[in-house]
Amino acid sequence: MNKTVIIGSINLDRIYRVNALPLKGETINAKSKELFPGGKGFNQAVAVSKVNDNVKLIGRMGKDGSGEYINRVLKDTPINTEDIAIDELAPTGEAIILVDDHGNNMITVVNGANMNLSVSDIPLIKNSVVLMQLEIPISIVMNQIENKIKYNNRLVINFAPFRKMEMEKLRLIDVLILNEIEAQQLINSFNMPFEEILIQLSRKMPSTNIIITLGAKGVIYTDQGEVYSIEGHDVTTVDTTGAGDTFVGVLTGLINQMSFHKVIKYSNAAAAISTTKVGAQSGMPSLEEILFFLGE
Ligand code: RIB
Repeated sequence: MNKTVIIGSINLDRIYRVNALPLKGETINAKSKELFPGGKGFNQAVAVSKVNDNVKLIGRMGKDGSGEYINRVLKDTPINTEDIAIDELAPTGEAIILVDDHGNNMITVVNGANMNLSVSDIPLIKNSVVLMQLEIPISIVMNQIENKIKYNNRLVINFAPFRKMEMEKLRLIDVLILNEIEAQQLINSFNMPFEEILIQLSRKMPSTNIIITLGAKGVIYTDQGEVYSIEGHDVTTVDTTGAGDTFVGVLTGLINQMSFHKVIKYSNAAAAISTTKVGAQSGMPSLEEILFFLGE
C-alpha cells in the first residue's frame, strides 16, 4: 500500500504582504502582491510528492486563466493529474491571503469549481493511503469513509476548514489532523486545554491516531490511546501559509514507511522548514532536507 491519493481543493493564491493584519473595519495598504499555486489539496499533494513518488491528485478546476497557470505548475511536479476534472462553468478556486511581518496570515477562500467535485468524478481507489481535507463536498469524504474497509484503504483526514460532521462516522478514520481552532470547534469547547481535547476525542475515536498541530509550539497526538507531544522548532518565519499542509502531506507520504512517532517528528520538522519561504508550496522540503535539518 504505497500509493497516495489526495482528493482535495486546487486554488490560485493571491498573497498580499502587509505590515500588520487589518483590524475590523480598517483599510490598509499592502506592500506587495504575488500569485502562487495553492489549495489545501494541491499543497498537500506537493508535500507528499517531496517524500513519496507515488502520488495522485484528484480535484476540479475551472476552464480559465487560473486553471491554465495551475496546469503549468502541475506539469513540473511528479503528481499524477489524470483524474483532475475541468469545470466548464465554475471558476478555479481562489484564496485571498494577507501575510504580516511575522508570517501570520488571514485566508479567505472562494471555493469555485472545488465544490462541484462529485462522487462520480472519483475513480475506484483501492489499497491506497487516501488523504482529504474539507474544502470539497462532504459527500465525497463520507463516500471514502464508507468504502475504506471494502477497498482496503488507509484514511487520513485533515479537518480543515472545520465543517460539521457526525462524530460516529469519524471513528473509521485512521489519522485525523486538526489545528487548534479546528480541535476546539470539533469538541465545541473553547477554553479546554488541548491535551484534554485530545483525550476526549481519543475516547470517542479509540482506534484513530488524532493529532493537534499547535503552530510554533509543535504537536500533540495520540497513538494507541496514549498522548504524546513534540516541541516546535525555532526558525526564522517568513510565511506560515501552507505549514499545516506541509505537516499533513509529509505525514501522509511517510506513513507506510516508518514508525508513527518518527513520521510525526519528520512532519513537524518539515512544517517548520516550510515557514521560511513565502507561498504555501515554496518551502516544502524533501526527505533529505528534513534529515539535514534534524542533523540525522
Ligand atoms: O492551507 C493554505 C491553503 O488554504 C491556501 O493555499 C489556500 O488556497 C487555502 O486553501
